[in-house]
Amino acid sequence: MAQRVQGTEDLYGGYMRAWQHMTDVARELFGAYGFDAIETPALEQVDTFVHGIGESTDVVRKEMFRVVSGALFDDLLAKGSEAGLKARQRMAMRPEGTAGVVRAAVEHTFVPQGGAPAKLWYAEAMFRGERPQKGRLRQFHQVGLEWLGASDPAADAECIIVLMEYFKRLGFDPSKLRLTINSMGDSACRPAYREAVRSFILDHADEMCDDCIERAELNPLRAFDCKNDHCREVMEAAPKVDEALCDDCRAHYEQVKRYLDEAGIAYVEDPTLVRGLDYYTRTVFEVEVEGAGVGAIGGGGRYDGLMELEGGKPTPGIGFAVGFERIYLALQSLCIDLAGDEPTCVYVACMPEQRAAGFSATLALRQAGVRTEADYQGRSLKSQFKQANKLGARLCVVLGSDEVAAGVATVRDMQTHDQVQVPMAELAAYVAERA
Ligand code: HAM
Repeated sequence: MAQRVQGTEDLYGGYMRAWQHMTDVARELFGAYGFDAIETPALEQVDTFVHGIGESTDVVRKEMFRVVSGALFDDLLAKGSEAGLKARQRMAMRPEGTAGVVRAAVEHTFVPQGGAPAKLWYAEAMFRGERPQKGRLRQFHQVGLEWLGASDPAADAECIIVLMEYFKRLGFDPSKLRLTINSMGDSACRPAYREAVRSFILDHADEMCDDCIERAELNPLRAFDCKNDHCREVMEAAPKVDEALCDDCRAHYEQVKRYLDEAGIAYVEDPTLVRGLDYYTRTVFEVEVEGAGVGAIGGGGRYDGLMELEGGKPTPGIGFAVGFERIYLALQSLCIDLAGDEPTCVYVACMPEQRAAGFSATLALRQAGVRTEADYQGRSLKSQFKQANKLGARLCVVLGSDEVAAGVATVRDMQTHDQVQVPMAELAAYVAERA
């Protein structure tokens, strides 16, 4: 039997309704903040991610699903190297949405020099070759937004405010959410800080795991996130970014916090929050649900250098993304059902002789926007009623020979069993009002 790829899921039934609900809430809320929807291709040139997310990140080095066309695949195997491939032939499934949106913004000049910021949101599948476990998939779904062209700390605060409002609208009790924030500095102050952390790791090399030794050269700040408890203990004594921020970064961060305080948003400062993508500058943030055990349900931050890394003019940016699957699990752990109720329907039941009348009544109801079901398997009237019950139909439209002869339909309320006769010409309007 054919099976789905490990770490991927089929979205259907209540799970699909939950995903659709998440995108509906996003459309309404993000729309109110002035964001327009965008969909970028799932497939991008590898360079878009290498330049943006960073060559030394786990996402790019280990987790990105690389794609070559079938025609090139054998050639690649034979040569044993991708060295001969052109940039456009080296492709990857997007592991996240920001790099692709910024690539599109550069390609289509969404933010002309001196122009207004571009505000974009998306709801898309992402792909990362991680080891599958609860809340960690290889194909997962993110809702996210990107705000390009705004350097004001108010944008950082508003991003966080809209994120927390989004969680609230999805059903989370804000008191159960833990929002962590930090500033990672910028190109003026981060290099020196990075070097300080690198030296610290190398000074403690005999106490740290091999991965962290490797991180010292590639991406020292990631050592704060090491899965190894002992490494994390050692890193507690490492220099913290809050002591290393330049005056501009410090002032920006203080202003973001003032806006958050003003908006009544509770947060915890964590100077070791570094995030796994290299493009971040200044503000970064993450949200977890206490006791849910699924890791971060969302995160984001500022990326003032990313547009340039993707070949554009210097343009500040900030955004976030949340993970559908983790949100679903976290809400489930709080006994909140993101799927909502199954949609109800109206069932049109008829005898075989009245099938033509049933057919046109069904069409008329659907034209009027009523979710309508009927029998397509030659069931008896009795089993059609059973089927209507099984489908949770609120109303059943019955068309027998008497009804059809008199030009009416019997409309039965499936809960109260009350019945009324409605002229065929008025049926659609009558049912649409009550369904
Ligand atoms: P991220 O923190 O890598 O950020 O991912 C955002 C969210 O996606 C996570 O908080 C988590 O809920 C979900 N997620 C990530 N990986 C997985 C996985 N393997 N399985 C299930 N869920 C997952 C970003 O992707 C940035 N692009 C966010 C951003 C937008 N920053 C600025 N703008």
